[in-house]
Amino acid sequence: MSIEAIRYRPGLLELLDQRRLPAEEHWVGITDVHHAASAITDMVVRGAPAIAITAGYGMALAVRRGRVDRRQAQELLLAARPTAVNLRWILERLDQVPDARVEPEAIRLHREDLDTNRRIGMTGARVLPPGGVLTICNTGALATGGWGTALGVVRSLVCAGNAVHVWACETRPYLQGARLTAWECQREGIPCTLIADSMAGALMAEGRINSVVVGADRVAANGDAANKIGTYTLAVLAKHHGVPFYVAFPRSTLDLRCPNGQHIPIEERSPDELTTLRGVRIAPEGIHVWNPAFDVTPADLITGWITEDGLWTPETR
Ligand code: MRU
Repeated sequence: MSIEAIRYRPGLLELLDQRRLPAEEHWVGITDVHHAASAITDMVVRGAPAIAITAGYGMALAVRRGRVDRRQAQELLLAARPTAVNLRWILERLDQVPDARVEPEAIRLHREDLDTNRRIGMTGARVLPPGGVLTICNTGALATGGWGTALGVVRSLVCAGNAVHVWACETRPYLQGARLTAWECQREGIPCTLIADSMAGALMAEGRINSVVVGADRVAANGDAANKIGTYTLAVLAKHHGVPFYVAFPRSTLDLRCPNGQHIPIEERSPDELTTLRGVRIAPEGIHVWNPAFDVTPADLITGWITEDGLWTPETR
């Protein structure tokens, strides 16, 4: 396990600043809940499980310092990003323990996430065919407590000796694929080719993709899955080309209170993400912009849901 993005020792949370990768490996030190919440909002840390782990430590810091009460800290953290339900999940878990147990429980849940991801990887490695695997965004060690969900499945396939080639969508507009997945794969020697999102159809038409595996920020009770914008497009393409389409996620991403994808809150982000590139303007001033960070893939486009408890299929879910 070489890549980690979250470190904690009592009173100090350290986050690998994912906005600066791959150019720079810079760690940000955090000692209070306000800073933990803004680090989530500002994408210092991103990816549903990593957001949750950070929120857990944010709560631990709040309890330790005692300057904001637990209810206030919860509200602050819950408002940091709306789509990843893992955030609510961890705060509800921590709500069940007394003050003295919040910090140790946050540490335990961080460790548990790594174990969960390895189990997701084992499930996925039994299901995914070797060969070309298309993925979007970053769902690896950076997005989790380690190993990863969808990219964790790839890691597990590689560890089991399978010949796998990752095709990483660049993931416009925030470029998590180009900046983070490409970096993780290179660091770990996982064969990987970067493509622009618009190339996925042509690649499938050439028969070079054997499966698609993506992560999720929230899976509704009927199996609809919210994930990085562009995921739905890949699912439609996969259906057209007869390519199996899998969603890999921990149970903390499952929101049974949400009946279907229409009820999942979708974050809209700043127009600047589309109109500028690294601070350089690429679109005319004043242009209208629509910038949802996530889309919803309906359950009927999903071949299987890969979890730490095994594979769910349309027949078993
Ligand atoms: O906006 P991001 O980078 O937080 O979006 C992340 C994703 O869409 C991931 O696919 C999802 O959170 C799963 S991460 C294991």
